[in-house]
Amino acid sequence: MAQQQSSSRLILVVTIVVAIVLIVVIWPLSLIGKGQVMPRSADDPDARIQPVAKVELAKAAAKSDGKPRDGATVYQSVCMACHASGAAGAPKAGDKAAWAPRIATGTAAMITSVTNGKGAMPPKGGGADLTEGEIKAAVEHLVGLAK
Ligand code: HEC
Repeated sequence: MAQQQSSSRLILVVTIVVAIVLIVVIWPLSLIGKGQVMPRSADDPDARIQPVAKVELAKAAAKSDGKPRDGATVYQSVCMACHASGAAGAPKAGDKAAWAPRIATGTAAMITSVTNGKGAMPPKGGGADLTEGEIKAAVEHLVGLAK
């Protein structure tokens, strides 16, 4: 009889210990995924990259509206890097003397130079996603600046 009593007491103790373990350890773990425990801090990599990701999305959205960019826009986003300062020996925007001999070759020849690249200028001036029309508009914009 005494033997039976102590073994049922042991079962009771084990049951209580298991219940405590469940409450103290397992239950909080089940809340982590719901964000109720261990809230995301500013150190969370996801939280830190979020604003950047938003800016990139906005950029992509602006581009994918299908409308061709005008000459001034293409110039400012791609060509200005070299042509504003004359970097890498580029004819400087608005420099009549530098542009006159090139303008004399005709717009078509200049568009070909930009499309295929010339000297230090990479193909499409480095703007790999530029369409033919956008390159033409940018060339005309540069020609306009040199008039
Ligand atoms: C990495 C610098 C760089 C960028 C970016 C660049 N260019 Fe140039 N560009 C040059 C250089 C250098 C030359 C002179 C090439 C030569 O004559 O050897 C040149 C020459 C030209 C010419 C004269 C071509 C000819 O036939 O003489 C045109 C037109 C031109 N660029 C337009 C553009 C346009 C439009 C863009 C933007 C879409 C652009 N460039 C972007 C460096 C650049």
